[in-house]
Amino acid sequence: MNTNSLFSPFDLKTLHLKNRIVMAPMTRSFSPNGIPTDEVATYYQKRAEGEVGLILSEGTVIDRPSSSNDANVPHFYGEDALKGWKKVIDGVHEAGGKMGPQIWHMGIMDNHHSGWVPPAPFEGPSGLNRPDFNNGNTMSEKDIENTILAFGKAAADAKKSGFDTIEIHGAHGYLIDQFFRAETNLRTDVYGGKTLPERNRFAIEVIKEIRKQVGNNFAVIMRFSQFKPSDYNYKLAKNPQELEAWLNPIVDAGVDILHCSQRRFWEPEFEDSDLNFAGWAKKVTGAPTITVGSVGLSNDFFGAFAGESSEPTSLEELNRRFDRGDFDLVAVGRPLLSDPNWVTKIKAGKTDQLKGFSKEALAELVLE
Ligand SMILES: Cc1cc2nc3c(=O)[nH]c(=O)nc-3n(C[C@H](O)[C@H](O)[C@H](O)COP(=O)(O)O)c2cc1C
Repeated sequence: MNTNSLFSPFDLKTLHLKNRIVMAPMTRSFSPNGIPTDEVATYYQKRAEGEVGLILSEGTVIDRPSSSNDANVPHFYGEDALKGWKKVIDGVHEAGGKMGPQIWHMGIMDNHHSGWVPPAPFEGPSGLNRPDFNNGNTMSEKDIENTILAFGKAAADAKKSGFDTIEIHGAHGYLIDQFFRAETNLRTDVYGGKTLPERNRFAIEVIKEIRKQVGNNFAVIMRFSQFKPSDYNYKLAKNPQELEAWLNPIVDAGVDILHCSQRRFWEPEFEDSDLNFAGWAKKVTGAPTITVGSVGLSNDFFGAFAGESSEPTSLEELNRRFDRGDFDLVAVGRPLLSDPNWVTKIKAGKTDQLKGFSKEALAELVLE
């Protein structure tokens, strides 16, 4: 298997990567009271030592009272949490790696199974996490304004701490995605609307605030998904024209790289073409894209949450699409959660040593 092209450098603004492999953001819940520990720093440093081109952190939440439903998800605010993150990025740089935090607000959530609840009710565009499931407050204009400022502050702090980029979490049914989705955004003010471009407004204001905070030369990534965890077949954009109308304003507002989340990267996004989500996003916007979803694995990641393991598979189809120019970067989740040396093994062609993914890996921060 020839994976040479995945090992070419990538340069955008001040972001310089030695290869095209990105560690996908993965929530680990190993940061008690929102503070990343030294073990979390070691976990990321090991992936940098293992030659991951770009590490995206697990989702890390902004400074809003109910931005998280989990006491062990890291914060990206407050002196102690930011000190923890400083150790993370310094460790990654020491090992020659590059990294960006995934900046997150969960929006309206299910209550966590631990029974922990945030100090204020969840907040979202219309109190809804999904159709017919209301579990919090509808945001006022003041809430929206303060949330936008909190996203900007997190981005400014990321840059100040020395991170190489940031990723805005706009996918998987969380706050920003709740604004995108008609069934969870019933607003009649400027943040709602019948069309996706109208419901883009919140995301665009977040992006503009972030861009104002980090300046023009700092690479900003944003993650999107058509699917929702409550509906795998959901499509925000039903055809390439709708995709163009959704994503072009996002790029114009200041996003440099579109991270297109799919469960399986080989699945075509629309009829009459084998292009996947990242392939179409690149085609309609011209912006660089990241693909993701079961790269090198036999099973998708929702299977992992249901306790399923996954076997290693070939990267041939991935390479075919990469070499065709469909996308610029490739994110890998579970293989890197299980094995910090996945990239070096792929590079050396040691495919017989790949571990795949076992559900046991979720219970710990795998360091070897
Ligand atoms: C344990 C776990 C936690 C995840 N947490 C996040 C997250 O915080 N943010 C996010 O955007 N995606 C999250 N995801 C999705 C991954 O980023 C990725 O898109 C998904 O696992 C598919 O990639 P894979 O098939 O290579 O694992 C998570 C996935 C897993 C397995």
